[in-house]
Amino acid sequence: MASTLCFSLLTLLSLVSSLYGLPDPLFINCGSNSNIIFSGQTFVSDDNYASGGSAVENLNTSSSKPPIYHTARIFTKKSWYELPANEPNTFVLIRLHFFAFSTKKFKLSDSRFAVSVSGFSLLSNFSVGDAIEIKELFIPTGAKTSYRIEFTPSDPSSPAFVNAIEAFTTPANMFTQGVPFPRSSPAGKIDDLHNLTSDYAFNLIYRIDVGGLQTTEDERDTTLGRKWKLDDSFISNSEGATNKSFDGLLKYGDNGATEYHAPAYVYKTAKQLNINSFNITWNFGVKKNATYLVRAHFCDVISTSLSHEAFRFFIYSHFSANIGPSDRVIVLAAPFFVDMVVDSVESQFMNIGIGATPGSNYTAFLNGVEIMELLKNSSEIDQENERKNINTIVLIVVGCVAFVLILLIGFFMGKKYQEKLINQRSQVMLSYGGDSYTDLDTDPSTAPHLSLNLKIPFRDILKATKNFDEKLMIGQGGFGKVYKGTLSNGRNVAVKRGGKGHGQGRPEFVTEIMVLSKIRHRHLVSLVGYCDEKSEMILMYEFMEKGTLQDHLYGNEYNLKLSWEQRLEICISAARGLHYLHTGSKDGIIHRDVKSTNILLNDLYVAKVADFGISRFDNVDESGISDIKGSFGYMDPEYAIYMKVTQKSDVYAFGVVLVEVLCARPVIGHNFPDKEVNLADWAKKHIKCGNVENIIDPFLMGTINMDSLRIFLTLVERCLKDLGEERPTMIEVQRDLEYALGFQQPVDDDSEFYKNSTINQHIIAVSDVSD
Ligand SMILES: *[C@@H]1O[C@H](CO)[C@@H](O)[C@H](O)[C@H]1NC(C)=O
Ligand SMILES: *[C@@H]1O[C@H](CO)[C@@H](O)[C@H](O)[C@H]1NC(C)=O
Ligand SMILES: *[C@@H]1O[C@H](CO)[C@@H](O)[C@H](O)[C@H]1NC(C)=O
Ligand SMILES: *[C@@H]1O[C@H](CO)[C@@H](O)[C@H](O)[C@H]1NC(C)=O
Ligand SMILES: *[C@@H]1O[C@H](CO)[C@@H](O)[C@H](O)[C@H]1NC(C)=O
Ligand SMILES: *[C@@H]1O[C@H](CO)[C@@H](O)[C@H](O)[C@H]1NC(C)=O
Ligand SMILES: *[C@@H]1O[C@H](CO)[C@@H](O)[C@H](O)[C@H]1NC(C)=O
Ligand SMILES: *[C@@H]1O[C@H](CO)[C@@H](O)[C@H](O)[C@H]1NC(C)=O
Repeated sequence: MASTLCFSLLTLLSLVSSLYGLPDPLFINCGSNSNIIFSGQTFVSDDNYASGGSAVENLNTSSSKPPIYHTARIFTKKSWYELPANEPNTFVLIRLHFFAFSTKKFKLSDSRFAVSVSGFSLLSNFSVGDAIEIKELFIPTGAKTSYRIEFTPSDPSSPAFVNAIEAFTTPANMFTQGVPFPRSSPAGKIDDLHNLTSDYAFNLIYRIDVGGLQTTEDERDTTLGRKWKLDDSFISNSEGATNKSFDGLLKYGDNGATEYHAPAYVYKTAKQLNINSFNITWNFGVKKNATYLVRAHFCDVISTSLSHEAFRFFIYSHFSANIGPSDRVIVLAAPFFVDMVVDSVESQFMNIGIGATPGSNYTAFLNGVEIMELLKNSSEIDQENERKNINTIVLIVVGCVAFVLILLIGFFMGKKYQEKLINQRSQVMLSYGGDSYTDLDTDPSTAPHLSLNLKIPFRDILKATKNFDEKLMIGQGGFGKVYKGTLSNGRNVAVKRGGKGHGQGRPEFVTEIMVLSKIRHRHLVSLVGYCDEKSEMILMYEFMEKGTLQDHLYGNEYNLKLSWEQRLEICISAARGLHYLHTGSKDGIIHRDVKSTNILLNDLYVAKVADFGISRFDNVDESGISDIKGSFGYMDPEYAIYMKVTQKSDVYAFGVVLVEVLCARPVIGHNFPDKEVNLADWAKKHIKCGNVENIIDPFLMGTINMDSLRIFLTLVERCLKDLGEERPTMIEVQRDLEYALGFQQPVDDDSEFYKNSTINQHIIAVSDVSD
């Protein structure tokens, strides 16, 4: 019996909602008064959040658990943490960490206690065994501005406890709102479930990477910090299945799912049904009489062409749904998921499986599955009594934010600062004001308020970079040196150490922290932390394995050249990042230094925009600003006329980047004949005369679809218009690039170019071409 499933086939709109960074994450180190870095996040002291309880420490020094598990807060009577809910009508993900150790008075492994969040009962009569336990819950925020995580010990001699808490608002499209969800039971389909996303919380039971690699089992994904377990211990007939994996690029967004739904490593691996088998089934232990949300993740990384066939996804044996007819798998390698509600009734197992549809030869596969228990809202706890507490916190936070804003505006409006012109990033300052700049360090109480969550102790940075080992240095510029570092959890980071702060570079340092702690997006390089102890100015970022876009165009570091398709994908990502920068926060932000060395690529060639040191909030009054910064060759011609910086200045600079991408040449070519000195002018002239073939990167010759090129060139011309108002906005740029990508034919396996390439089909080795 087939049925229509609820799945998210989203349109362009979903692309917009997938442009999302985690807002306001809160990571709490319970029972401790100091901050600690764990899993790449800074966990802050819980002093401001707990309603009571006492802090305890593990005295057993031989414990090998990470330091976050060395402390806990214990509660001998009903107590809670109260945390702010920042966005209405969405979900907050709460992750609680438990590790039972012995204190002077208590043996925490004997404790039994209950935990509820916002009226949803998560755990009852819960006891933590010998291992670390992590519980994860999604709760609907409704209209609330705060929520409580409540701990109730079974009796005072058996205290409740918790070691760490993670809490953050999930992206808005995590769960499809306002639609009925198909519901089934071991007996088959039953009524749809309404109001799923408003009436229930979801308690995570299983999160499985089907066909995954052993090495990813303990990894936390980089979007929501989830762990995905392998499926092999749940499969009941493994002889029918083959592990599949794919190392190309995924087309997130095209079939609905985003990186927030599941990371690439989940969608890139799958189990495929063997040709002579009927089905593969997985068995999960569940509670009797409970209701679950089952989310199955699919991504066709197996087929070589789009099929019009379908296969079956079934739950128990009496319910199945078709997966695949071209309305669902509309693009290969594009992730999607299917949600349904399942009642366990009398069964203690839930069976899910995939099988071939009779008469169809479409290969059956499954990439991932999540099973979450639905929790009903039991009762609403009285939140009014303790309101005072949270209001104080809110006031303090608001105060700090306002203070920092005033400081920042101070920088831009009044305090023009001196800076020497020796800046090896070729960043120039055409003019600058003469007032001396006030060093933040002179008032020690102010600097730490920048963004508490991101502050990292200097000793941790020394550890991560092996005392700034020169062997780990990966870059150097006017701002100082950049090192590759490794955090205690194994995560790689880039550590940028400014020259010691005697004013020089300090405003850029502050601006970068301000911008990046305010705004997060998957196409903007994210800030892991910063340190300003002992007049150090150190910024720590996510590590971007593949360096800058420029390195891949005409740098000599990489001997892999990018295909046209891949160049377009990189430009689209960067455009998304810039669009978000311009529009994602209340006061739009202007980057002011868009260039090919500020677009970085991670190990999967996902592009992210970096370097916000001279960025500016858009609504700051223009008057009185005379310093103009940016890089030669990317500079908006309107600067010279109006001394005005706008979002369209970023669009102009991005237009120059597009030319670099097409021509693979430096922006200022000192070795070129005179006429070619400025790449933008030179390219504009050629495009106008219609002889672009003279300027295109010879490597791309014959590989670009003509329509794709035509759209691209028109876009370049529009971006490089002298008048800002005639240039497109970043979202228009992004859409035109997507349009251009659409015309580019999928990689042709038979073409000479790709024949010998054993690497990722999107990357072509230069050596293949030269012969
Ligand atoms: C201390 O921790 C170690 C390692 O986890 C464990 O083997 C030992 O039994 C613990 N000692 C006590 C007194 O709990
Ligand atoms: C809690 O669990 C323990 C062990 O499973 C059991 O002995 C006890 O009766 C339970 N208590 C309650 C109140 O359910
Ligand atoms: C869903 O919620 C709406 C309003 O919140 C209510 O009117 C409706 O009856 C609910 N539907 C079900 C099936 O509970
Ligand atoms: C799939 O891979 C896992 C882990 O890498 C392995 O344990 C398992 O045996 C493989 N299963 C099949 C059916 O090949
Ligand atoms: C299952 O739920 C029904 C109604 O909610 C209840 O009557 C029944 O006793 C429950 N069965 C079990 C085993 O909990
Ligand atoms: C899976 O295949 C087996 C035969 O190999 C069959 O007995 C079973 O009913 C099938 N399950 C479903 C749900 O189709
Ligand atoms: C099976 O696959 C072939 C090619 O792969 C296709 O031509 C055929 O239409 C497919 N469908 C069926 C039902 O055989
Ligand atoms: C739980 O239910 C109560 C009353 O039924 C309601 O006022 C409250 O908003 C609900 N809480 C959530 C988180 O939905």
